[in-house]
Order: sequence, then structure tokens, then C-alpha cells
Amino acid sequence: MSALNNKRILIGISGGIAAYKTAEFARALIKNGAEVRVCMTKAATEFITPLTLQALTGNPVHSELLDPAAEAAMGHIELARWADLIMIAPASADLIARLANGHANDLLSTICLATETPIHIAPAMNRLMWSNAATQNNCKTLSQRGYTLHGPAEGEQACGETGAGRMLEAQELADIVIAVFNDEVQSKPLFGKTVLITAGPTREAIDPVRYISNRSSGKMGYAIAEAAQSLGADVQLVSGPVALEAPNKVTRSLVESASQMHDKTMNLAESADIFIATAAVADYSPANIADQKIKKEVDAENVNKNPELTLALQTNKDILSDVSHAFPNLFSVGFAAETENLIKNAQAKLQRKKLDMIVANQVGENKGFDKDTNQIEIIWHDGQLSLPEQDKKLLAIELMKVITERFSSSTLQR
Ligand code: CTP
Repeated sequence: MSALNNKRILIGISGGIAAYKTAEFARALIKNGAEVRVCMTKAATEFITPLTLQALTGNPVHSELLDPAAEAAMGHIELARWADLIMIAPASADLIARLANGHANDLLSTICLATETPIHIAPAMNRLMWSNAATQNNCKTLSQRGYTLHGPAEGEQACGETGAGRMLEAQELADIVIAVFNDEVQSKPLFGKTVLITAGPTREAIDPVRYISNRSSGKMGYAIAEAAQSLGADVQLVSGPVALEAPNKVTRSLVESASQMHDKTMNLAESADIFIATAAVADYSPANIADQKIKKEVDAENVNKNPELTLALQTNKDILSDVSHAFPNLFSVGFAAETENLIKNAQAKLQRKKLDMIVANQVGENKGFDKDTNQIEIIWHDGQLSLPEQDKKLLAIELMKVITERFSSSTLQR
């Protein structure tokens, strides 16, 4: 996977000869998977054409603060919100001064005032302009306000002088952006951990066209997969048939039957740290799967000669229990969907299936399956927490935080 996949980077360009390097910088970001947009000051357009940047990034270049056409497509506030990171390269002495004084007299300075996105700047100017106390003070002010400065480097300058003032090279700037996102990922609580999740229903074949299944939509499991990924985990999702797309950056294995889900999950459990069983696995499957479609036997009047059909069912393996017993060091979390005695039944499952935690929810009476909201009780060996009814995506984020906390304190004790 590319280092900057799905990252949105806004490059700000101000007037300086180093602007020619920014084209290379934009290319390097795109090569690493980033989506790039460019905002140029008027002076910048004297050094490099917007068309060059537009062609390289595949996006229109933004430069006018009051351009109705541009505002209709993506206004300055949207642009300010859009970016995951802003890099201004080159940042001229004049732009640095305007930013330090909170000006909003062109698009780039306005965006910088209107954003909560981290702003990085790569100054580039003549060495005397750089060492001037005014510039140094402005840079200090910007650093204190949370801007991150990179460079300038020492060396021969376009003006013929030698000293500090050269903009960092395009590749150096790209490496900085990659490192920023790597650090961000590495500081996440589940970085380096693998979370294995089962989700959705299973289908137990009766014959080539019929099966036994249930109403599980997979929404809760998929929301948990997304939440675990956002906490930095590598996520393996073993899913039965659902109408959902695989969440971003989550590895999904699609299966049909409980037996396929069992084999795939046992396989992946070996390299997992946390296992969360959200799947509604069929407890039984037909003892024999007919090779051909089962036919009715009708007489000449179209009356079924066998009005009753008995299906022999056999017990499926319990995936959660098998995984938790085979991998005692894995932090195992089960779900208990109950219609009565919620806490008591869930606690019994916690013991019986040898789990670290169980998430109990009431089903039936319009609750649970195939709904967008849910309410859960989280139970572990020496604690319990109730999360109120809310959207499954929000619930999943809260639940993953609790799982991460319990997992971290259990690994400390091991
Ligand atoms: N589970 C599993 N494999 C099975 C059945 C269940 O992994 N064959 C998991 C579910 O994903 C869930 C938990 O076990 O995390 C609880 O499943 P549930 O069906 O509610 O519990 P059972 O033990 O089957 O008990 P009962 O059906 O009697 O409620």
C-alpha cells in the first residue's frame, strides 16, 4: 500500500524562484498515493503556471479569493476543511509576514486562517531576508501558533549568494509528509496489532439453490472493523454474505457457510491479537446437502404427495469457542444476542466460551438485527459497562475504545 493512500494534501505556493521545485514535490506526493490540490498566490503564478500544477495534480488550481466559479466548485472554507495537511512551499518572506499577522487578503492566507488542519511551511528566500530579525520573529510567532517549519537549507542561492535560504528539495519535502503520517499512524493505540473480526450471517446450503440463513446485516461487525482500523490496527474481516462494501484499508475474506467461516477464522487467528466474533453463525446446518434441487412430488391434480419435509440438521462448530480455546493468548470478544435474561445469559457465555469480554444486546421486538442503532452491555470478568442506544457506527467506536483499554491492561498483566 502506498504511504499516502487516501491522504489529501493542499500545497500552497507563494512567489519565489523555488516554486519550480514544487511541481516535483506535487508529483512525489501523487506517486505515493496522495490526492493533491494546489493554491497559489498571485506572485507564485509569475514563477510557475497554474496549468503545470493542474496537469500534474489532475485538479483545478485555486488562486482567487473572490472567484464565483471556483467558490461554486470548492469554496475556500471547504478547501480549508478538505485537507489532511497543508504544505506551503515555497513560503516567501512576504507570505510568512502576512500569516504571522493574521492577514486574509488572498486565498492562501485566508485558508490558513480558516483551517484546523496542520500547516507546514518550507521557507525559501535570499539569505539576508531569512536572517532578518523581522522574518525570524515572524517564524517564531508561526511556530508558537503550531505551524511546523522545514528548512531552509544552506547553499548556493538563485540570487548568486551562498547561505541559508534555499527551499528543501522536492523529495525531502515528500519524505517529511510521509513521516508525518507514519508518526500519526504509529502513535495510534492499536498500531502493529491485528484485529480479527467475523461478521454477517452464514448460509447453510440445503441443495444447490436453497439455504438456511438469518437476518444479520453485518452492520455492527463492519462498523467495528472500521473503528478498529481507525485506531491503527491491521484488520482482517471474515464476512458472510452481506450487502456492504469492505471498509477502507480492511482486508476482507468472503465466506458462505459456518464451516468455511470456521476454517478461515482459525487460520487467521494464529497471527491475530484481538478476536471479535460479531457474526450470526448458524448453529445448525443440513446434515446432507442434496446434489440436485429437491423436487416436490405431485400427482396429476398437482397435489403434493409429501406435504411435509423434514430436514435433518447437524450442529456447527462454535467458531468463537474453538478460537478462544486454541489461542489462549488472543484477547477474545464475543457477542450475545438474547431475547431474555440478558446479563445472566451473557455472563454464562463469557465463562463457557472462555472469553475476555462479551457484548450483550437485546434482540427481538424490533431491536438488534438489520437496524442502524443498537444498545449494548459490555461485560468482562471484573467489570461491566452499559452503552446507550445509538447509531451502530458511533457505538462501534465507543466499543472499540473499551476493547482497546481492556486489551492493553490485559497484555500488561500477561
Ligand atoms: N458464535 C460462533 N460460532 C457459532 C455460534 C456462535 O462464533 N457456531 C459466536 C457468535 O459470533 C457470538 C457468540 O458466539 O459472538 C454468541 O453466539 P450465540 O449464538 O448468541 O450463542 P450460542 O452459544 O449459540 O447460544 P444460544 O444460541 O443458545 O444463545
